[in-house]
Amino acid sequence: MLSRYTKAKFTVVTAVLLSLFIILTMSGCGNGKDQPKDSSGDKKNEISEEEQAKREQLEADAERGILILVNKEHSVDKDYVPENLAPIKYYAKDRSAQTRFMVSEAADHFHELVEAAKADGIDIVMTTAYRSYDFQTMLWNNNVASKGSEEEANKTSARPGESEHQTGLAVDLSTKEINYALSNAFGSTEAGKWVEENAHKYGFILRYTEEKVDVTGYLYEPWHIRYVGTTAAKDIYESGLALEEYLKQQGLDTYVK
Ligand code: DAL
Ligand code: ZN
Repeated sequence: MLSRYTKAKFTVVTAVLLSLFIILTMSGCGNGKDQPKDSSGDKKNEISEEEQAKREQLEADAERGILILVNKEHSVDKDYVPENLAPIKYYAKDRSAQTRFMVSEAADHFHELVEAAKADGIDIVMTTAYRSYDFQTMLWNNNVASKGSEEEANKTSARPGESEHQTGLAVDLSTKEINYALSNAFGSTEAGKWVEENAHKYGFILRYTEEKVDVTGYLYEPWHIRYVGTTAAKDIYESGLALEEYLKQQGLDTYVK
C-alpha cells in the first residue's frame, strides 16, 4: 500500500509531466510535423510532381504507339502498315521514293532535327525511313546474297517482319561528307557526332549502339535512329540503356498487335 504522501507526490509528478507534454506538443517542439514546410519539403513535392508528369507522358506515348518494340523476338505482321504516314522533306535523291515516309509525328520531329542541324551548319538527309514488308524482303534477300549467309546478314539486316522500319518510326541517315553512303563512317562525320549529341532533343534515339550489341542483336549502326518521343529519348540518352532495357524498366513494353 502506498502512503497518502507518496500518492500525492505521484499525482503531482504525473500532472507536471502531462502539462509539459501538452505544452511541447502544442508548440510543435521536437517533431516539426506541424511546422510550415521548409524549402527541402517543397523540393521533394516538386520532384514527385515532375516524376508523376513524366510517368503520365510515357503512358500516353505508349498508348499512342510510339514506344512499340519491334526486334528479333517481336515481329510485325506482313500486312502491318502504320496509320498517318507523312512524306519526309529531306532525303538522299538517289534512293527509293517509296520509303520517304514516317508516322506524321515522327516526320515532324525529323524535320525539326534536320532544320536544327542545318542551323548549326550540319547536313543531314534520310536514306530510307518507312519500309514495307515487301521492301524489307528485297533488302534482306540482297543482304543474304552479299553476306553469304542468313546468320551474317542478320547482324546488320532485319528479317522481313522484324524491322522497326516497318513501324514508320525509324529512319536511316547520311550526309554529304560521305557522299550519302550508308556506312559506319557516318559515326565519325560532323553529322554523326551532332546526331549522337542532339537527336534526343527531337525525340530520337540511336537504336543500335556499340555498347548494346548483345541486347539488340545488331551491330553498331550510327545511322539508324528511332523516334520514341522526347521523354523516353532523354531518359535513354542519359542512361545509355537499350530500348529493350528501358521499356522493361518502365514496365511499358508494347508491341504491334
Ligand atoms: N538494319 C536494321 C536492323 C533493320 O534492317 O531494320
Ligand atoms: Zn535502319
